[in-house]
Amino acid sequence: MPDAHILGIESSCDETGAAVVRSGEKILSNVVFSQIATHQPYGGVVPELASREHLRAIVPVVRQALKDAGLTYRSLDALAVTQGPGLAGALLVGISYAKALAFALEKPLIAVNHLEGHIHAVLLEERQKGNHEVNFPVLALVVSGGHTHLYLAEQKSEGWSYRNIGHTRDDAAGEAFDKVAKLLGLGYPGGPIIDRLSTHGDASSVKFVTAQIKHQDRKDRHDAEGRPRFDFSYSGIKTAVLRYVETHNLKASTEQRRRTLSAITKPTLDDYLAACDLETLNLVASFQRAVVEDLIEKTLAAARTYDAATLFVTGGVAANNELRQRFESDAAQDGLPVFFPSRPLSTDNAAMIAAAAYPKWLSRDFAALDFSAEASLPLQKL
Ligand code: KG4
Ligand code: ZN
Repeated sequence: MPDAHILGIESSCDETGAAVVRSGEKILSNVVFSQIATHQPYGGVVPELASREHLRAIVPVVRQALKDAGLTYRSLDALAVTQGPGLAGALLVGISYAKALAFALEKPLIAVNHLEGHIHAVLLEERQKGNHEVNFPVLALVVSGGHTHLYLAEQKSEGWSYRNIGHTRDDAAGEAFDKVAKLLGLGYPGGPIIDRLSTHGDASSVKFVTAQIKHQDRKDRHDAEGRPRFDFSYSGIKTAVLRYVETHNLKASTEQRRRTLSAITKPTLDDYLAACDLETLNLVASFQRAVVEDLIEKTLAAARTYDAATLFVTGGVAANNELRQRFESDAAQDGLPVFFPSRPLSTDNAAMIAAAAYPKWLSRDFAALDFSAEASLPLQKL
């Protein structure tokens, strides 16, 4: 297959990314400018601020990606950019810049679905390690701050195709991590800190009942063609954590923690631990355990039902240590190989966008210059 150097651009949420990837299998550069510091005081991503920060960062980030790759703009074969899903204003910054650059350089432009990018992050790294063998069908759990999706993925001659067999009915799993961290005064983003604190608490101390993490709409467990679906729901568990704080008189200590931690520019693990009593650590560990178990239970049930040959777990929450360990051990019991991206490639980045663009480059699937951002862009069906 011919080689291609593709410049990927990602700006769907709060990370401005640019990367050069050769032929979907070799990362030549991968630059990510994170806006976490900008959004931290608000406890979540503020869309207007995200667009403004992308505008500021996009030119230097792209320049750095070219420089790190040791390439000139002219030597690129194509550009790729995230079309959606994501924040419309944030997406538009990347798309407008990519269009202008592609036009000026007279290079083809490829529109990529962000979720497809997360799936290709796994493939990219496996190929980079020399593993070109993936058995189909692949079941991909894409689990991040904005998404909790299960896709059956297959490589067909004309490219990749995906069928959604499950999604969250309300909050995404990463969103639950972020909201629980916020309500416990732990700051933003919640996933990484809850991940680290959980090992210091007793995960069996707070029992979340099944109804809190099962969507209410129990009848609708099949799609229109009668095929089983495996949907998720994480807003109930967030409310259960809030109730626990209220009924166990943890409000005052939570406020104290919020004040203490927000006065520290970059809190260390010791700062977090000093600000947390054992009851809070137990609550955090129990919350994480409940979410991890639910993700694993549904994903493995879906894998059995659909006879998946391989499992991918990707997206920001795939960086979670307990999730990785449990998936590895539980999938192994089912004889199912499971692959994760490395932690830097689990969260948003542009290398995954450039990698997902390669099969489209091979099939000349280029974007028309009038394409635009699509905040709720679905992945195509099988
Ligand atoms: O993929 P990503 O960078 O952006 C979206 O597409 O949403 O994912 C960010 C999400 C945030 O909700 C963050 O809290 C979560 O991933 N996250 C984690 C961990 N690292 C990031 N959740 C649990 N454990 C982690 N170690
Ligand atoms: Zn993402």
